Amino acid sequence: MHNNNPIGLFDSGVGGTSIWKEIHQLLPGESTIYLADSKNAPYGQKSKEEIIALSEKNTEYLLERNSKLIVVACNTATTNAIKELRAKYDVPFIGIEPAIKPAALHSNTQTIGILATKGTLSSELFNKAVEMHQTTKIIEQVGHGLVPLIENGDINSPEMDELLHTYLTPMIAANIDYLVLGCSHYPYLIPQIRKILPPHVRIIDSGEAVARQTKNVLTGHAGLSDGLNTENRFYTNANPKVLEDILDNRYKVVYEDF
Ligand code: SIN
Repeated sequence: MHNNNPIGLFDSGVGGTSIWKEIHQLLPGESTIYLADSKNAPYGQKSKEEIIALSEKNTEYLLERNSKLIVVACNTATTNAIKELRAKYDVPFIGIEPAIKPAALHSNTQTIGILATKGTLSSELFNKAVEMHQTTKIIEQVGHGLVPLIENGDINSPEMDELLHTYLTPMIAANIDYLVLGCSHYPYLIPQIRKILPPHVRIIDSGEAVARQTKNVLTGHAGLSDGLNTENRFYTNANPKVLEDILDNRYKVVYEDF
């Protein structure tokens, strides 16, 4: 049975489009609706209660527009609120968690780095994942200031470069061979990060795994669309231009004060 309702995605801002792009690539026949809560970014510095309240607001917006499945395209919202969302709403949720498992499994130096928000690194879900990989040394670093620069459209700025050098230099000194990007905004920084890290250090994020998981859930019970009349809609409660730029100006973004 086909289900032509859209896949809903939300993030604290524009970064979750890194997840949207992976989903759209794997499932081009699915309609999508993307919500950028940029007015409230960054989530990473907020309390768990605030993150839950914002995640509920975003979920309700997407459910009012008939989303058949919701992708929480934000690590901070996933690690702090997905349990509560699943308990409250009768729709499948897909979350994004830092890819510690594959990094720890393949690391030769048994030392990996993770760059994420304070909210993600201090969450129970993240700390459980760390406990499960006790033979791997995990160098944790909060990416203070990175999300606000991305939300301002300042990806290629000297400030960004300086922050990335500050955060990555100790990881390089500790001999990491994997860097886990634990925030859906950070894949947009890969070109700059690549210039700083030695060539043998691999960078991994969760986008592809989330897209595969989305496909599995749709195939399993939420229902794939028939691929006709596909529509991709984008909404923001801040400056639409930043979101349009990050989507290479291929989509119109609608401003709404949600
Ligand atoms: C943030 O809003 O602080 C970043 C969102 C994320 O963790 O993906």
